[in-house]
Parts: sequence; C-alpha cells; structure tokens
Amino acid sequence: MTAGTAGPGRRWLDRLWARGRDFLGTELAIMGGAMTWVSERHLVAAISNGGGFGVIACGSMTAKLLDAEIAATKGLTKKPFGVNLITLHPDLIELVDVCTKHKIGHVVLAGGLPPAPAIARIKQSGAKLVCFAPALAIAKKLLRDVDAIVIEGSEAGGHIGPVSTGVLAQEILPNVTEVPVFVAGGIGHGTAIASYLEMGASGVQLGTRFVCAHESIAHPKFKQTFIRASSRDAVPSVQLDARLPVIPVRALANAGTHKFADLQRAVIDRVNRNELSPKDAQLEIERFWAGALRRAVIDGDVETGSVMAGQSVGLVKREQSTKDILDELVAQACEALESRASASLDRAPEAKLGAGLRTRAGA
Ligand SMILES: Cc1cc2nc3c(=O)[nH]c(=O)nc-3n(C[C@H](O)[C@H](O)[C@H](O)COP(=O)(O)O)c2cc1C
Repeated sequence: MTAGTAGPGRRWLDRLWARGRDFLGTELAIMGGAMTWVSERHLVAAISNGGGFGVIACGSMTAKLLDAEIAATKGLTKKPFGVNLITLHPDLIELVDVCTKHKIGHVVLAGGLPPAPAIARIKQSGAKLVCFAPALAIAKKLLRDVDAIVIEGSEAGGHIGPVSTGVLAQEILPNVTEVPVFVAGGIGHGTAIASYLEMGASGVQLGTRFVCAHESIAHPKFKQTFIRASSRDAVPSVQLDARLPVIPVRALANAGTHKFADLQRAVIDRVNRNELSPKDAQLEIERFWAGALRRAVIDGDVETGSVMAGQSVGLVKREQSTKDILDELVAQACEALESRASASLDRAPEAKLGAGLRTRAGA
C-alpha cells in the first residue's frame, strides 16, 4: 500500500518527524518496541530493513546470548538497530559492555529509573541513551543524562504505567523539547502517528502491531489469539496487596490471568509468614511473567501463558509482512495529514465569514 506516500502528505510527514529520523538514522521515525521473546533477530532486522528502527529485547538473556543475538541481527541487516536492556537484570553492566563491543548506536533502558553506573558506562561507549519517562517530573530529571525519551501510556502491552498515552503526550510533549520524544502505547493506525507528531513528538514506538508480522517468530497460536482479540480483551493485571507493589502487566485475559492472582496470594502468604522478603517476593512475581510470556510466545500456550498485548490489539486484523505494516502506517499518516489540510482549506471561507461577522459585530 503506497497511497498517500507520493503526495504532499509524505513531505509533511518527513518534516514532522525529521528530528526522530535524524536521531535514529532511519527513513521512518518508527521504533519497533522491544518485546521479550518476540523482538529477536528476525523481527528486529525486518523492521530496520523496512525503514524503521528495530530494537532487540534482551529480557533475561545472558551476556553470551545477547552477544550471539546482536551478531545474528547484524547478519540480517546493515541498517541501524538498538538494544533494550532491563535495569533489573543482575548483569546489566556486562550487557552494556556487549552492546559496546558491537558498537550498538542506541541503548534503551527499561524497567525503572536507570542506575547511575549503567548510564555512565553507556555514555562512555558513545552510544545514545534512550529511557522511558512515565511522568513529566521524571522526564525533566532524565534530561541530565538521556539523548531521547519514550513516553509509554497505559494502553501499551507488557508492563505499564498508570497514565494513558493521550494524557502523557499532553503533559510531556509541550514541556520537553531538549531531546527527541517518542510516543508509545495504543498506536495501531497511522492517523494516531500523525496526531502525536503534530503535538510535538519526534517519532513513535509500536509493539503490539508488529507481533503478527510474518517475520515475527511468535507461535501461530499467539498470532491467532491477537487477530481474534478485541481491544477490551487486553486488560491490566490486578495488585492484591499494597505492601507488594506489582507493576501492572497488560495482557489478554485467560486462565494465566487467574494463575497470576493465585501466585500473588501464595507469595503474600509467604511474606506474611516472614519466609520471603518483599523484594524477593517482587522478583518471584517478575519471574512468573518472564516464564509465562515465553510459554505463550514460543510454545503457543495461550491458555495459561501470558499473552501480553496492548489495547491496539483490536487493530491487528491479519498476518502481514513487516514492510507492509510499515508502509500501511506511513500511508495512513500521510492520508490523515492530507485530509486534515483539505478540511482546513474547506473551512477557510467559513473562517473568513466568521471573521467578517465578528468585525461587523465589533467583536
Ligand atoms: C509481548 C510484549 C512484550 C514486551 N516486552 C517488553 C520488554 O521486554 N521491554 C520493554 O521495554 N517493553 C516491552 N514491551 C513494550 C513494547 O516495547 C512497546 O513499548 C509497547 O508494546 C508499545 O505499546 P503498543 O503495544 O500499544 O504498541 C512489550 C510489549 C509486548 C506487547
């Protein structure tokens, strides 16, 4: 699908996301949000080869596995791609060193505020540092260190914050202009991309929309579940005890959702009996997600595994090539920009008439 890419819309789009393209070194300022187990060499390379910016999800990989994954991705694309590291990983510094060895240009730190030693190590390596800001105050604080920010709203799949993408965009985009800001969460159509760029974003990040790409290694059952689901099926996990803060995870409701509640109850009981510290309890809960996600994505256990998905899952209608997904998003964004421009031209005579009436009325 190339409609809208040859008209003025593409010129406007390229102007709107020029800063994001420059930052990423890509044709399109669309980042493929790192998804543990899904964002491996094939999908990452396909997104980068399609003009976007693929990001490897390191998840709980060891340094050795990450080393091999980066090398394999380099074998599939000559275009830029990044690596997403989880700040809770016990070997974070070692993982940063693997990225440095491979001259990775962009490192994304996810899962909480980035620790100072990791920031220093990434800066030393010369790589650009990208972090998530779930609130304006945190975005402002991060500005000291980061080269770009991702704001990810609660519509997203996987671990989520409490605030919606629309509200974060209104709070943060007008107030953080020092570095490029990429908007994530709930984007499934190019119209939304055009809107966030017009609000001041430099680019966007999408996860859910890429899960059903042909190049994604997600199990056919995982993909089918996505295609059948509607937006309302992607629900956040529930926290059972205030002493045990659980970062909510958005996933498709299934038997695994209930299993998670059972696990929380069991862990809370052990904390109550002083058999487990709250910190270890939290780690145990995070381990549940990593295992459950693998079962669903790789083994196709969509009943008891975790089918992490954003609300934009309702906009995933079929399997497509990554290139088709990117082309479709770009064409939709161009069409949106063109139709808004023609609507404002249509309204121009009314605007003039309105101004005339106001003048006559002495307004
Ligand atoms: C299955 C799945 C796994 C994810 N794993 C990670 C991860 O490992 N690290 C991370 O920073 N974000 C992760 N995310 C979030 C994505 O990177 C991305 O920001 C998010 O999907 C964007 O919202 P969207 O799904 O509405 O497009 C995951 C999302 C999904 C759906």
